[in-house]
Amino acid sequence: MTKTTRDIDSVTGVETTGHEWDGIKELNKPLPKWWLLTFYATIVWAVGYWIVYPAWPTINGYTHGILNYSQREIVSQEVVEARASQGQYRKKLEGTPLDAVRLDDDLYRFAMAAGAAAFQNNCAACHGRGAQGLTGYPNLNDDDWLWGGRLEDIHKTISVGIRSDHKESRTSQMPRFGIDKLLPDVDINDVVDFVLSLSGKPTSAAAVARGSKTYTDQCVSCHRADGKGNIELGAPNLADPIWLYGDSRHAVRESISTGRGAMMPAWSGRLDPATVKALAIYVHSLGGGK
Ligand code: HEC
Ligand code: HEC
Repeated sequence: MTKTTRDIDSVTGVETTGHEWDGIKELNKPLPKWWLLTFYATIVWAVGYWIVYPAWPTINGYTHGILNYSQREIVSQEVVEARASQGQYRKKLEGTPLDAVRLDDDLYRFAMAAGAAAFQNNCAACHGRGAQGLTGYPNLNDDDWLWGGRLEDIHKTISVGIRSDHKESRTSQMPRFGIDKLLPDVDINDVVDFVLSLSGKPTSAAAVARGSKTYTDQCVSCHRADGKGNIELGAPNLADPIWLYGDSRHAVRESISTGRGAMMPAWSGRLDPATVKALAIYVHSLGGGK
């Protein structure tokens, strides 16, 4: 039930709207002025915004606004600029001799970042994300190198690969002493003892003495008399605690029997010269570079 005449509420002294429900009257309390003004201002602001900035979807696009502002275009522009400045660094890296990259701080930083990224994309599958390697795939963090740890050695290894299809590939092959029956089993067993003794592993002294002769006859040409190996031939150091294929009797026997001969792809045709350089610099920096 409503009344139409002006009515002042007797308790609060405030005018009512004239609405009354079951004896409860509605006081006339309009919104504060500041609130209303703010509200109208936001409406005006929104209209201004529609005019200036992109706002409304249309059937085949959207209203661009008079500023023609586009975040997407700004990002594309930034990407183009980043590519261009990367391109400059790539060119510079390509033209700078390997040894000189270290002397240019900015270029070195770029090479390290590019090398780290390329390593994750191309090398981590075999050498591990941290370049820690695993059986048959060398750890690239230590200073034990099959083919040499100087910057230019590493660069060459990455460029031409190892036993790869590149015509200048690093290559060598240890004879398959067991498979090709170049040595009888007893001699192989004895030379296993001799190899293990080189890194101080406990073995039978009599077998070591017998194996020593076989080693001198068959192995020194590649692994050297002291067992320290030869980076010209990729022949591993047998006298240290680092093993490519493992130091168990079984693993060493298997190496001598099969000659192993792992393969690493050549990257010079696959990756551009600047990336190969960046990779060499990155790998060299991992801790073991010489
Ligand atoms: C398909 C597996 C594979 C991939 C991929 C691979 N490597 Fe290798 N890499 C090998 C193997 C196996 C060896 C050891 C070869 C041998 O026994 O002489 C090796 C050896 C190396 C060596 C020599 C280590 C030493 O001790 O002299 C370097 C350096 C190297 N890899 C770097 C790289 C880089 C950088 C990449 C990525 C561009 C890469 N490798 C990708 C398998 C791989
Ligand atoms: C023609 C050179 C050559 C001769 C001769 C040779 N080796 Fe090797 N040896 C190599 C090369 C190269 C490798 C590395 C293979 C690879 O990287 O896959 C190797 C690897 C090994 C390994 C594995 C080392 C590791 O770190 O896991 C052992 C063990 C070994 N040789 C022992 C011998 C013994 C013992 C003889 C003699 C009976 C011998 N080699 C003769 C070249 C040779």
